[in-house]
Amino acid sequence: MLDFHLQPACRGDAPRLAAMAQQCVEHGLRPRWSTARILWHVRDADSVVLTARRADALAGFAVMRYADTAAHLNLLAVVPVHRRRGVARALLGWLEETARTAGAFDIGLELRAGNAAARACYLALGYRELDCIPGYYQGVEAAIRMTRDVRAGATPAAGAPPQPPADGYSSASRRKSNS
Ligand SMILES: CC(C)(COP(=O)(O)OP(=O)(O)OC[C@H]1O[C@@H](n2cnc3c(N)ncnc32)[C@H](O)[C@@H]1OP(=O)(O)O)[C@@H](O)C(=O)NCCC(=O)NCCS
Repeated sequence: MLDFHLQPACRGDAPRLAAMAQQCVEHGLRPRWSTARILWHVRDADSVVLTARRADALAGFAVMRYADTAAHLNLLAVVPVHRRRGVARALLGWLEETARTAGAFDIGLELRAGNAAARACYLALGYRELDCIPGYYQGVEAAIRMTRDVRAGATPAAGAPPQPPADGYSSASRRKSNS
């Protein structure tokens, strides 16, 4: 049983999430995930910024944006001390379930080609590689594009089912009213 709970980010989380994005994802690049950009997604009706917390401390978060039949994972990060404990699996599982409920079946994402941990993680969670885009990250590094079809009957992700959020935030009502 995970000792984390999932809940939507609030506006006050944005500076910490931006710092995590820069430390965990954007190292060696010009930062693009500013506090303002995170805040934009917190407020955006078509995005979910989901956090994983242990007590009150942030352990990880993910940003997904939903369209009619597809969704895009913009960010996923887990603080080092909490890695390999199923936090990314729980975050992604919840966001995928939300996508499925909303009728968005294809989840897309890009990751840095040199990010072996993330690549292994997404493969373990049922994603497949589509292609490689040279120079995608500011001309410094290529991106690998990956996708997963989350429809029932599509290849399931390995492991436990997603953990429901502790605050009653329902995946069936992802259109949110942010605090
Ligand atoms: C990639 C990342 C999000 C994984 O988070 P996590 O909470 O440790 O992942 P989980 O514990 O849910 O792992 C799920 C599965 O993915 C695979 N996996 C995760 N990290 C792995 C690693 N470092 N090496 C190999 N496989 C890994 C495993 O199969 C794992 O299942 P298992 O632990 O039962 O074997 C985390 O390492 C991270 O934040 N990295 C820096 C930011 C980043 O790369 N973000 C993604 C790209 S934007």
